[in-house]
Amino acid sequence: MKALVLAGGAGSRLRPITHTSAKQLVPVANKPVLFYGLEAIRDAGIREVGIVVGDTAKEIRRAVGDGSRFGLEVTYLPQEAPLGLAHAVLIARDFLGGDDFVMYLGDNFIVGGINDLVARFRRERPAAQIMLTRVSDPRAFGVAELDGSGRVIGLEEKPEKPKSDLALVGVYLFGPDVHEVVAGLKPSWRNELEITDAVQGLIDSGRRVESTMISGYWKDTGNVTDMLEVNRLVLESVEPSVEGSVDGASELIGRVVVEPGASVSGSRVVGPVIVGAGSVVRDSYVGPFTSIDRDCSVIDSEIEYSIVLRGASIDGVGRIECSLIGREAEVTPAPRVPKAHRLVLGDHSKVQISK
Ligand code: TTP
Repeated sequence: MKALVLAGGAGSRLRPITHTSAKQLVPVANKPVLFYGLEAIRDAGIREVGIVVGDTAKEIRRAVGDGSRFGLEVTYLPQEAPLGLAHAVLIARDFLGGDDFVMYLGDNFIVGGINDLVARFRRERPAAQIMLTRVSDPRAFGVAELDGSGRVIGLEEKPEKPKSDLALVGVYLFGPDVHEVVAGLKPSWRNELEITDAVQGLIDSGRRVESTMISGYWKDTGNVTDMLEVNRLVLESVEPSVEGSVDGASELIGRVVVEPGASVSGSRVVGPVIVGAGSVVRDSYVGPFTSIDRDCSVIDSEIEYSIVLRGASIDGVGRIECSLIGREAEVTPAPRVPKAHRLVLGDHSKVQISK
């Protein structure tokens, strides 16, 4: 069995972060979200992985390399534009050959891995096996309709009137029959080759499509709210450790990781929190569910429930909450007079200003 990992896409919901970097590389507890997926694939006993890449190909290649440090053999599959999940299968045709494969969306986060799912597929050998979870508003998802035995009888992409509350999770297993269906697909109204249409095509041609309800936690990290939520979840189980320096005027409470070369002085850090290697926290408060990446500085400020990417600096700005701060970003106070906000914002930025 092989794996097909999707790490292209437009990432429009995570702009402006995705103007300059890949959304699959946004760190969760200081580790790129994509790496959790690659580890889950490796743990399921799969070695050969094709990674579909788009505009951010260079960055993904730099981060993952040949895959050897994950125990994987990685082949990169360039996709000229994000033309849909089934388009990714189409361009991976030669790489996948006649093998079964697991398709894994590179920005999805699944707790508990995929071992059980892969084992069941190997045992039962359906044409496809999809993973489902109950959601409160299925209209934003691919939605499945099941018969009494759990077999899938229909799928719809982002339906206006969903037939169930069972949403598709970003992991799919396929046998080689899917290629025949994918080759005949037409683009949808949003001009994408839809994976839901591919699975529906398998059902329509009388093939067996099975479903598994996901037992653990799953999130698509495609937007900031979900990204912060996944970060919270992962931080909840980090093992506290202090390898950097913490001065006597500082207080660390709960699960706090201070990585090598990081320094905390005159500050109160209430975990779960990670302070990345080489970062400086001075005269500040860092509150629960905050991940500070490498080489950042937080000075004379307060920050909570946030992700700070590599090299960012926050200096003298009071309290920051529920924020995703990009690489090398600088957050500083405005001069007191005149009382006004001064902004240099990237395209599609979203800023909330307290009045
Ligand atoms: P999505 O999150 O559905 O699409 P997107 O990345 O274009 O995001 P947005 O809606 O914010 O614009 O994609 C799921 C995963 O699959 C994600 O990791 C990107 C990847 N992908 C591809 O590699 N190729 C594609 O053609 C598409 C549509 C997605």
